[in-house]
Amino acid sequence: NAPLRLGIAGLGTVGIGVVKIVRQHAALLEARTGRKIEISAVSARSRDKDRGVPLNGYVWEDDPVAVATRDDVDIYVELIGGTDGPAKASVEAAIAAGKDVVTANKAMLAIHGQALAEAAEAKGVSLRYEAAVAGGIPVIKSLTEGLAGNEITRIVGVMNGSCNYILTRMESAGLSYAEVFAEADGLGYLEADPQLDVGGIDAAHKLAILSSIAFGTRVDFDGIELEGIERVSIDDIHHAADMGYKIKLLGVAQKTGRGLEQRMMPCLVPDTSPFGQLQGGTNMVAVEGHAVEQVVLRGPGAGEGPTASAVMGDVCDIARGLRLPVFGQPADTLTDAPRAASILP
Ligand code: NDP
Ligand code: HSE
Repeated sequence: NAPLRLGIAGLGTVGIGVVKIVRQHAALLEARTGRKIEISAVSARSRDKDRGVPLNGYVWEDDPVAVATRDDVDIYVELIGGTDGPAKASVEAAIAAGKDVVTANKAMLAIHGQALAEAAEAKGVSLRYEAAVAGGIPVIKSLTEGLAGNEITRIVGVMNGSCNYILTRMESAGLSYAEVFAEADGLGYLEADPQLDVGGIDAAHKLAILSSIAFGTRVDFDGIELEGIERVSIDDIHHAADMGYKIKLLGVAQKTGRGLEQRMMPCLVPDTSPFGQLQGGTNMVAVEGHAVEQVVLRGPGAGEGPTASAVMGDVCDIARGLRLPVFGQPADTLTDAPRAASILP
């Protein structure tokens, strides 16, 4: 079998994690997939940055689009981030050039997922994004493969590790939101634009993607009732604790008689429940299906190793020849679900 050649754009936390797995676990990847997995070309903003791994064996391109369209690239791995800009331009170019694409970019998929899925399916290429939702937890694979025989009735999840860290740290240290926010920012736990985390937007991007897969509906990010954690005070946390509850940024997606309900907001959960016990940056997603009843997936929602693990799972699937519709069923069969009325006052 010919080697499978990757072009990677974005050599930050996730990109370098992917480079490390490809370099350090080549024999394992070949044994698992029957193909050698190699890197042909890479791109990032700064060529001179020391990234802690040797990159001199790979062609350097300043422009991600050039990586995405190279003849010696079979899979374009987009790890730049951002809804639009070079991430979207390069993914579009890769699809147009007939390349398979793997990305971790939930912001791009939550807004442009439908158009990208249609383009990929029209070209007969894969667009895979396991890392985009809940980092290292294989939740997308679970929905599209293992749970494919189920009518999914509900998804509930904690999908943003930074918010869970802030809430659990406020709880355990008795610190204010502002104090813990500053601490988390200093530790590098927050996105470059922290509002994506604390405003619930990043978690809502993930929920919108999961809803589409679960319910066969077009990604509807604007249909999510959204409230972040910025207004959760230490008093709220103490009052909740007095009643035996914890506060979590919880996402819920379910089909109701009133339409598709999607909400991401701080919620009270019993403190002894699995969600109540969830600490720090850990994510947890519970999926309910008519046949399986409930499956709970829990694990690291971010970080170099966990996120690269999910990216490489997608790469390995493509190496094995697995081709799936982007959102679990052909993009042109996804429907627009009516939105359930607001539950907020
Ligand atoms: P980083 O900010 O660590 O890395 C981004 C990379 O993109 C950097 O190497 C940067 O270059 C490069 N880049 C930025 N602009 C350009 C450009 N115009 N051309 C080429 N390269 C560019 O991000 P992460 O690794 O954390 O995230 C990557 C993706 O993975 C995002 O979509 C993110 O949402 C997603 N993700 C991240 C997780 C995590 O734990 N970090 C978890 C799940 C998903 P340079 O280094 O030179 O500045
Ligand atoms: N900022 C995100 C989080 C990164 O905290 O969960 C992983 O998607």
